[in-house]
Amino acid sequence: MGVTVHRLSRRAILLGGAGLVGSAGLAATLTGCSTTDATHGSTHPIGPVPSASPSAGQGLVQKSLVARETTLDLGGPTVATWAYGDTVPGALIRAKAGDFLRISLENKLPADTSIHWHGLRLRNAADGVPGLTQDAVKQGDRFVYEFTAPDPGTYFFHPHVGVQLDRALYAPLVIEDPNEPGGHDDEWVVVLDDWVDGTGRTPDDVLKKLVDDGGGSHDMGGMGGGHDMGGHDMGGGGTAMAPWGDAGDVTYPHFLVNGRVPAAPERFTAKPGQKVRLRIINAASDTIFTVALGGHRMTLTHTDGHPVVPREVGAFHIGMGERYDAVVTLADGVFPLVAAPFGKTSGGQAMAVVRTGAGSPPAADVRPAELSGEVFIGSQLLPAESAKLPDRVPDATLQLSLDGSMKPYVWGMNGAPFGKNDPLTVQQGQRLRIDVTNQTMMTHPLHLHGHTFALPSGLRKDTVLLAPMQRLAIDLDADNVGRWAVHCHNIYHAEAGMMTELRYTES
Ligand code: C2O
Ligand code: CU
Repeated sequence: MGVTVHRLSRRAILLGGAGLVGSAGLAATLTGCSTTDATHGSTHPIGPVPSASPSAGQGLVQKSLVARETTLDLGGPTVATWAYGDTVPGALIRAKAGDFLRISLENKLPADTSIHWHGLRLRNAADGVPGLTQDAVKQGDRFVYEFTAPDPGTYFFHPHVGVQLDRALYAPLVIEDPNEPGGHDDEWVVVLDDWVDGTGRTPDDVLKKLVDDGGGSHDMGGMGGGHDMGGHDMGGGGTAMAPWGDAGDVTYPHFLVNGRVPAAPERFTAKPGQKVRLRIINAASDTIFTVALGGHRMTLTHTDGHPVVPREVGAFHIGMGERYDAVVTLADGVFPLVAAPFGKTSGGQAMAVVRTGAGSPPAADVRPAELSGEVFIGSQLLPAESAKLPDRVPDATLQLSLDGSMKPYVWGMNGAPFGKNDPLTVQQGQRLRIDVTNQTMMTHPLHLHGHTFALPSGLRKDTVLLAPMQRLAIDLDADNVGRWAVHCHNIYHAEAGMMTELRYTES
């Protein structure tokens, strides 16, 4: 394969991947409609975002975040990283549905950054995607995000620049439902992560190595071609029967629950018989987890904020960017909550501990029996009646293919990486169907900003796992004008091009 020197593309500017697209082979792998950068809109700065203000009677939640370099103790390993303040995850933000959030971000990082409010149906100007909705927040600058959070649910936030999500730059966001009956005694927010930063490599190093290793000599067929299946043991993670194919691209030394390694886990203390609502968030960059609470069955109640027909499971898969709420009635004793990384054979697992009584703490490598039983796939949940989109025939159908390969390390949508592919276009008021096909041998969590979509079953989500070669139609109501990112929530794939734009047009 020829070596092509490629000038820094708009994608690299948008996603902050300094120089990575200069790697060999990228241009040679593009197939089909390679459009000009002009289709991507102006390259001029976007300018200041108009501020918004709360209306009379609207609740106001104000917070200040400082993104900065820091050193964190993960419960043994001490790592230099980038964080919101000095914890990982960053401090939980809690509000009520309908509240107005005013959150200022001060950027003390040695890089540009932004914040994206993952899963929220917010106004476009607050969505936090440099190049689409705002200019990146420069080093030393501040930016104030102002928006109404319309829908209750479990969310999180993270930068939308480069691979910064794979640092400590993430935190949970819970929007409470003022009309919910409640019915549980306590709540536990459980944030899962795969960790590499400060262990001798940064996420930028990891991406550079993926691109370098994919460059040149081992062409596996280019975009639309297969993925190298040889590199990982698919029997790992206790989930050999899962349909996810390959295990991900990155080898992580640690997996975390709420910022802790399993040798020094977080402890959740409660009384036997109490009903606890778990809000489980997968903030990992490259890892699908299988979650189980030893000695218990969990009743899944919501996904990505939307209520579902309650479903009791022993264990379930959670993809990057997905959220599941579960209710569990606690037994008496000490129990491990384990998140086993799918298919990854090094780095152990993520674990936290629930304690309601006497007992010795579980070992870091404990494997609850539930992991060996049936593992539920979240997209098979059924929607609660209240979460269904009204029946309607789509006004328009668009095709979306997920493409790419490891060698070269190039990912794309509709035949080309972001910046080279055409935006998906929609008109306000349309019911849009997006017919998605995963053309690769790897699983991708597809995420849409600013909207939620319905699967054929009616299940409402904003992030959904597509197994290798899976095809899935998603429907959405185009009710939020703007320019919205659509991308794989494997952050290395997104940064390597697996992203496009959903753009509202006049007619
Ligand atoms: Cu959490 Cu554009 O994503
Ligand atoms: Cu992907």
